[in-house]
Amino acid sequence: MKNKCDVIKDLLQSKQISFPKEEVLVFAPSNIALVKYWGKRDTELNLPQTSSLSVTIPKKGANTRLKLIDAEQDHIILNGEALDAKHPFAIKAADYLTLFRPITKRFYQVNSDSNIPIAAGLASSASGFAALVMALNELHQWQLGLEEQSILARMGSGSACRSFWPGFVEWHKGQNDDGMDSHGEPFNVPWPDLCLGVSLVSEQIKPVSSRDGMNRTTQTSPFYPAWPNKVEQDLENIKQAIYDKNFHRFGQVVESNALAMHATMMSAWPPILYWLPETVEHMHRVWQLRQQGIGIYFTQDAGPNLKFLFMKQQIGDIQKQFPMLEVVALFSKQ
Ligand code: DP6
Repeated sequence: MKNKCDVIKDLLQSKQISFPKEEVLVFAPSNIALVKYWGKRDTELNLPQTSSLSVTIPKKGANTRLKLIDAEQDHIILNGEALDAKHPFAIKAADYLTLFRPITKRFYQVNSDSNIPIAAGLASSASGFAALVMALNELHQWQLGLEEQSILARMGSGSACRSFWPGFVEWHKGQNDDGMDSHGEPFNVPWPDLCLGVSLVSEQIKPVSSRDGMNRTTQTSPFYPAWPNKVEQDLENIKQAIYDKNFHRFGQVVESNALAMHATMMSAWPPILYWLPETVEHMHRVWQLRQQGIGIYFTQDAGPNLKFLFMKQQIGDIQKQFPMLEVVALFSKQ
């Protein structure tokens, strides 16, 4: 079995190692899974049990500045704050950079600004790791293709492998032990009027990380064996709904997939419940709106915040129910 360092060596061995630049600045967007990744077949390489499908959130994500430093360890700055080496995010980032050390032999300063709440189930780790890989690639001038960068980012955080393209992106689970076939691929069917709304219930750091949550679920939930079949059907149905621009079919897949994922967590032991009372209250408001004929569906990740999907024409009606809603046009041209 290969480990992460072996995969990195394989990927970089054919690349010309030229002089690194002094400093680079990159932006990577976040993405929200519509058919979720929940559970790994290989925890070392972050290889998933199932494929998944996401939509990229334009302009929301991480701006990361990477620079080489003469120091004995990496320095991580997050949203302007220099993190102590024992901070969980500093550990995650430094552990990841350590994987590249046999090749790069250098230490880095990572200065990352995220314009989304960290660890509140808004996929900040996806944009964070995608940006780190983009920055490493640019700093060292490796000229890796997007699929190769997606493979590298996946080893930092699985969902990060979908952040390299705009629009809908499918992460293929792949079959190979080394994961070289497990990366994102754009699903190039735009949906111009599709919007996402984020209803913030809490910006608290989640009590159980997605990583621990999914591992506990695969190990202990009696319902987990049903999950791969559900995902396979949902992937087929969502792609068809996107081709047909059938919003209600699309929304039904999205909402039902998220609820099924949460059902596997609730049935894990110890149980995992990311929901707060306000989360449930927002769900009921969504269902009430649907009863009134307004097309709105929700999805929820490993946190209490819901993300809503709706068409541009419904924004006014939805904002009457959710005045604080932040709306993003997912396929906007600017
Ligand atoms: C619920 O990608 O954060 O958001 O691979 O362990 O870093 P690791 O997990 P992560 O999990 C994301 C889980 C999810 C669903 C999804 O984005 O597909």
